[in-house]
Amino acid sequence: MSEGGHPDVILCPGGPMLLRGDHVVQDADGVEHHTTRPVSAVCRCGKSSIQPWCDGTHKVLPPKLRP
Ligand code: FES
Repeated sequence: MSEGGHPDVILCPGGPMLLRGDHVVQDADGVEHHTTRPVSAVCRCGKSSIQPWCDGTHKVLPPKLRP
């Protein structure tokens, strides 16, 4: 938990993983990406065009292809 009692990591059913605060995300190629927003959405469906971040593409996927 971060200060204020909010979790740092939230898994959204069928959607991204939300990260609260400053984090470093390593992609499949080993490249590190620093969060720049108070809350950042990490893609879990693998279909985003702005990996490793979520671009909302998961919303148009058939339910069985969503994370
Ligand atoms: S989880 Fe949103 S685009 Fe992949």
